[in-house]
Amino acid sequence: MLRNIYRRVGDIISKIESKNRDFPTLKGHPAAQQHAEEIVGSHHMLKRSNENNPTKEFKIYRWSPDHPNQKPFLQSYFVDLSKCGPMVLDVLQKIKAEEDSSLSYRRSCREGICGSCAMNIDGTNTVACLKPISADTRTATVITPLPHMYVIKDLVVDLTNFYQQYKSIEPWLKTKRPPPNGREYRQSIAERKRLDGLYECILCACCTTSCPSYWWNPEEFHGPAALLHAYRWITDSRDEFTEERLQALTEDHTRLYRCRTIKNCTVTCPKSLDPANAIHKMKTKHLLSRPMEKTEEEDAKAFG
Ligand code: SF4
Ligand code: SF4
Ligand code: FES
Repeated sequence: MLRNIYRRVGDIISKIESKNRDFPTLKGHPAAQQHAEEIVGSHHMLKRSNENNPTKEFKIYRWSPDHPNQKPFLQSYFVDLSKCGPMVLDVLQKIKAEEDSSLSYRRSCREGICGSCAMNIDGTNTVACLKPISADTRTATVITPLPHMYVIKDLVVDLTNFYQQYKSIEPWLKTKRPPPNGREYRQSIAERKRLDGLYECILCACCTTSCPSYWWNPEEFHGPAALLHAYRWITDSRDEFTEERLQALTEDHTRLYRCRTIKNCTVTCPKSLDPANAIHKMKTKHLLSRPMEKTEEEDAKAFG
């Protein structure tokens, strides 16, 4: 009883201490700021803990195509946090290296750049290398694959459809004329600034797999990641195919207009991007570009 009270007070103090920390380099990156606060909080909590080996349980989703008749299950692993790095990816690396080499997951950069370690951690889609371990050893951390995706093995999901949709928006600069100086297409500082909040996307698929509209229409609806990239090229001052790009996205209305502005995508993005806002701006651009007589007919198709 007393130990629990002591722990709870410790938790609260840790949270307050970490909130008071300023991370100037993370200004404008709320997700990174939150992660930094969590790490400082966890560090304080571990320091305060009077256990010599603060061991935490991790429940990890397991399924293997080698045993297709065996149902997926959560396997428990116990990790000594004092001998492990601060992020959830460190836990997975430790388990795979020291305990169970059969555990499968994707990873590459381990610094939030490649997007490959995306998974669901305690109910939230995120990239494991940017997700601090919760130092609360009373509860287990549950790690499952990205939701509503076909599982290939353990935490590895099939992203074929996701990449096809990305490919379909033609994610490259398209122009009709050669560069004016024969060398490069130039942009003003203001034009370049319009790409901020878009070009940083790492294609982790956390947003797309958190989107209820995508869960129910994964073939037709392009999903927030592909649409954010579509807007990235539509808004690029050097690209000369804006009209064609908008037309390709809207000739079948489900590709863009299945977005119901639920905003799960924006809430979950580990890079603090706002795909819902990009989609909203793209819809507005499309609506303003339509001839008035087509409006009613198209609206009936989109929202009917
Ligand atoms: S918008 Fe964010 S969540 Fe979606 S793919 Fe890009 S980085 Fe990942
Ligand atoms: S805002 Fe649109 S894309 Fe984002 S989660 Fe909601 S429905 Fe999906
Ligand atoms: S390993 Fe590259 S984003 Fe996590």
